[in-house]
Amino acid sequence: MRLYTVLDIVALILALIHFGIPLTYYFYLKNKYLNKPWNIKINPNYKPKVTIIVPTYNEAKLIWKKLDNLAEQTYPKNLTEIIVIDSASTDRTPEIVKKWIEQHPNINIKLIQEPERKGKAHALNHALQHATGEIVVITDVDCWWPKNALQEAVKWLSDPTIGAVSCIKKPATPHTTEETYRKYYNTLRIAESKAYSTPIFHGELAAYKKTLLQKIGGFPTNIGADDSHTAAKIALTEHRAIIPENLEVKELIPKKNYPLWRIRRAQHLIQHFTKIANTRSKTNSSYRKVLALEIFLHLINPWLLVIASLLLLASSLVFHSLLAISILILGVILLMLREYRVWVIKQIILILAALRNTQAKEITWKKQAK
Ligand code: GDD
Ligand code: MN
Repeated sequence: MRLYTVLDIVALILALIHFGIPLTYYFYLKNKYLNKPWNIKINPNYKPKVTIIVPTYNEAKLIWKKLDNLAEQTYPKNLTEIIVIDSASTDRTPEIVKKWIEQHPNINIKLIQEPERKGKAHALNHALQHATGEIVVITDVDCWWPKNALQEAVKWLSDPTIGAVSCIKKPATPHTTEETYRKYYNTLRIAESKAYSTPIFHGELAAYKKTLLQKIGGFPTNIGADDSHTAAKIALTEHRAIIPENLEVKELIPKKNYPLWRIRRAQHLIQHFTKIANTRSKTNSSYRKVLALEIFLHLINPWLLVIASLLLLASSLVFHSLLAISILILGVILLMLREYRVWVIKQIILILAALRNTQAKEITWKKQAK
């Protein structure tokens, strides 16, 4: 039996970094930026034509309700175009869309059918060629917009320095883990946006100026996070990519296999940040710091927790270190605290996602029932 070992000291330093950096980042951003004014000039006369692109793959269950939700928008109908782009669904999604179109002659909507499924971003690029709007807004089928969503997104885009706007997200039905996780992440996204731009966007509502999309060559087809990566590329072209606090979208959470869903999304974010980490470019200095921190948090930080835990485990098993045993027991007891538990789950998800990325990139993924 030993009181402590060198392994424990190394583990403690790693744990301090693992928990300290994100906590410092969160409170620093929150205190410095969250309550700051936006520093944006809104032009109330800006009324551009908007194209909403809805990518679908086997959405028969939800697409009707989704189109109803889009038809309720307060933005002028004569300035709104909807393009549904379907990639060879096998569940009658296109037939349902055709029927909806027939029953809504007052809505400017068209369906494009791809003969083969090549992924969401591929489909978005296809639809982009047909988009006539100055603003292009992407939305997933499994989420609900508030009635003024388009009006709000356009409002923020009326400032010439803003290139892209996304939303904050809330689960559409109660889900404790997802709600806790979202509470912190939404705050971070807004604070990063006020600092300059946020590198994480949401496909549930992602609005872009079309000229900028064209400038960066459309949506990336070789990585999964088309939403976040497009936003980051736009932010690197000197236009801000922001998430304002008043644009909230409700998202459906899968009924089964919630962890798998989170792992796949994490895989995509890891692909996005790996690509950004390998991109050299000059940009706003606050944004450079945000990118560096988010790259660290997604690619490196989870591994520090794994290494620290393994060192403590080795120290307890091999040297029977009292300190190591105490910390491990404390770490387990703390799992009763929801915030801590949600954090640890997120780290495990990122680790599993990094491992899974070595096997499959999930550019086309399995539809999960919601
Ligand atoms: N046309 C087309 N082709 N649409 C697709 C394809 C495809 O190959 N694959 C998925 N979609 C559609 C779905 O029908 C849905 O409307 C939307 O893309 C998002 O797919 P979901 O299955 O709902 O995935 P998610 O909500 O977990 O995806 C989230 O993360 C992705 C990146 O990891 C969202 O934020 C997506 O927007 C984001 O791309
Ligand atoms: Mn979805």
